[in-house]
Amino acid sequence: MRTVPVPAAPNNVVTTPPMGWASWNTFAARIDSNVIRAQVDAIVSSGLKDAGYEYVNIDEGWWQGTRDPAGNITVDTAEWPGGMAAIAAYIHSKGLKAGIYTDAGRDGCGYYYPTGRPAAPGSGSGGHYDRDFLQFSRWGFDFVKVDWCGGYDERLDPQATYTRIGDSIARATAQTGRPMVFAICSWGNGSPWNWGPGLATMWRTSQDIIYHGQSASMDRVLANFGSAQHPTAQSPGHYNDPDMLVVGMPNFTAGQNRTHLALWAISGAPLLAGNNIATMSAETRAILTNREVIAIDQDPLGRQGAKVAEDDTDLQVYGKTLAGTGKRAVLLLNRTGVTADITARWSTLGLTGSVAVRDPWTGTDRGSFATGYTASVPAEQAVLLTVTGAEGSSPGGHTGPIVAG
Ligand code: GLA
Repeated sequence: MRTVPVPAAPNNVVTTPPMGWASWNTFAARIDSNVIRAQVDAIVSSGLKDAGYEYVNIDEGWWQGTRDPAGNITVDTAEWPGGMAAIAAYIHSKGLKAGIYTDAGRDGCGYYYPTGRPAAPGSGSGGHYDRDFLQFSRWGFDFVKVDWCGGYDERLDPQATYTRIGDSIARATAQTGRPMVFAICSWGNGSPWNWGPGLATMWRTSQDIIYHGQSASMDRVLANFGSAQHPTAQSPGHYNDPDMLVVGMPNFTAGQNRTHLALWAISGAPLLAGNNIATMSAETRAILTNREVIAIDQDPLGRQGAKVAEDDTDLQVYGKTLAGTGKRAVLLLNRTGVTADITARWSTLGLTGSVAVRDPWTGTDRGSFATGYTASVPAEQAVLLTVTGAEGSSPGGHTGPIVAG
């Protein structure tokens, strides 16, 4: 294949954390054109699109590792009429963007861990990087997640491998003119927060938030939130990725759903819904589309909120500096098993004087408070606030300015 020079700043594609939906958490490998189209239609009709959910990401299961004699990927056209270009075109026809999935190694996760289809050897892009990423771009995809099952098994070096993949994506973009969000999925292997910024839009920081066949759990949500704490790695266009959302999945209560979305919002994390959008409840829809919570996540400064205080063991306060003057998002997180009071103190957030407190979930002002604000927080849940005051003389905790790397 013709080699095209890699442009500078190859994969700087977005300026706010990507939002959308991904097929994996609900459907595992059992996806086809009908499944994806039904979700696309629901993303539009439910109002998720209007709330900012944009990428429709086809994950594991679209491809069973087959290629034509020239080495080009082939798919089952009974499942994907018109091939993958047709589903990308359908997604685009609704004003949305299309995402696809592969593996850094020769065999993908569907070979090592079948999830609804027979084990598929060869379902990775190992040995075919330039060909496959150009193919994805020509088909019309705007986003590619690159998993690590084959990479791990083949003992590839994460940084070197993902750098090669980033170069292939940049060459594909140079040929087609279509930029692709590059999502690294090494589950934290190789510490991608040290080299992902500038190479990719987002990098997974941990294992999966939900395993195939298991239920959503707050323990995993909290564990993934904790593993994603690398605030100095984050800047507009480059994000720590604690994984797709389990908001609205079976067994999660409204309080758990709100806590989960609040944790991702204070982190400025990508928001990729993973529930079944076509069947979700009105309550789940209201949570996923809450404008003020989404605005915290999408704040243009792109900061990752960080822990500024721990009132007592596992009673934590996180602060995220928002664009503007004297604005913070604040999260009071109770990691314990009993309801507890947690106090946000303005000094730890770099604020001074009387500070106005707002509840973004209900869109109501709570009043102004002199030194801090105390809320009762249920077990394993969080209270999310936005606050506005005067900047103190020194920035609080990790919420002050971070020079983008
Ligand atoms: C890995 C990834 C998941 C999902 C599955 C698909 O486990 O971390 O997000 O893509 O593979 O098999």
